[in-house]
Amino acid sequence: MTHPAVEDLKPDLNGKVAFITGAGQGFGRDFAEAIATAGGAVVICDIDEPAARKAAEAIVRQHGEGRALAVRADVADENQVKAAVAAAVENLGGIDILVNNAGKHLTKYNQPFGKLSREDVRAMMEVNFMGVVNCTLACRDAMAARGGGSVVNIASIGGHLSSTPYGVSKLAVRGLTIAFASELADANIRVNAISPGLMGTEAALADLPGDFVARFRDELQLVHRLGRVEDITAAVLYLCSPASNFMTGETLKVSGGYPLGI
Ligand SMILES: NC(=O)c1ccc[n+]([C@@H]2O[C@H](COP(=O)([O-])OP(=O)(O)OC[C@H]3O[C@@H](n4cnc5c(N)ncnc54)[C@H](O)[C@@H]3O)[C@@H](O)[C@H]2O)c1
Repeated sequence: MTHPAVEDLKPDLNGKVAFITGAGQGFGRDFAEAIATAGGAVVICDIDEPAARKAAEAIVRQHGEGRALAVRADVADENQVKAAVAAAVENLGGIDILVNNAGKHLTKYNQPFGKLSREDVRAMMEVNFMGVVNCTLACRDAMAARGGGSVVNIASIGGHLSSTPYGVSKLAVRGLTIAFASELADANIRVNAISPGLMGTEAALADLPGDFVARFRDELQLVHRLGRVEDITAAVLYLCSPASNFMTGETLKVSGGYPLGI
């Protein structure tokens, strides 16, 4: 016996092409590996070309030729993004899924505005905000030509607190999710976002004091463990699969219940 909801939840991405930014390492690389495992082909877009190539080669070794392509682009640069999207369409035939994941998120950007130079704030907004605009607009026609698709933006719980420059940039990503959901609806493109919480990855914990992490996990969160990359990847797969076909313009918090809010 089958049930449509059970079938829809199986992430069958056979024949789909996903363009993933910042996929040379971290979250993006895991998203690419999961989408390839679900049958899709992936475009590993990163400013770090050797990392992109390494990630793509690993996927090709595991899943075969034509299942991954490495492209170098700075998401803040409109022309580089356009060229990367053109290369993806030429090599893999089109784009169905865009994951806007590349972002500047070091502890540096989680300080008061008064402690950061304007130059740093501008550079962060160029990547975290304009990067999403550049990639979404560059992929729009390719996705529309395939009859529509799914865009997933990686925001942050920082965008629900909005208390630092980084948080404000991620609040803007939530805003872009609403704006593009509306703007791209006629092309049958859904646009949603995910706000990851505090992750237990080495990179995320490197700059954070141990007592801050412990308080966050044990007192602020309702689920008392740190986030895992696969928690976020599962949400990406859901937003790319038919199970979420009735959702657009939404941001999912995957953060152990912090912060709560309406
Ligand atoms: N890791 C966390 O704890 C966490 C929590 C909440 C949100 N996020 C968000 O998730 C996303 C990914 O985070 P991560 O921890 O995997 O980061 P990461 O630093 O491990 O990886 C980011 C990747 O993006 C690439 N990149 C950076 N700037 C780029 C640019 N201008 N153009 C193209 N590629 C670029 C880097 O080369 C790198 O490969 C970011 O948007 C971040 O804000 C992360």
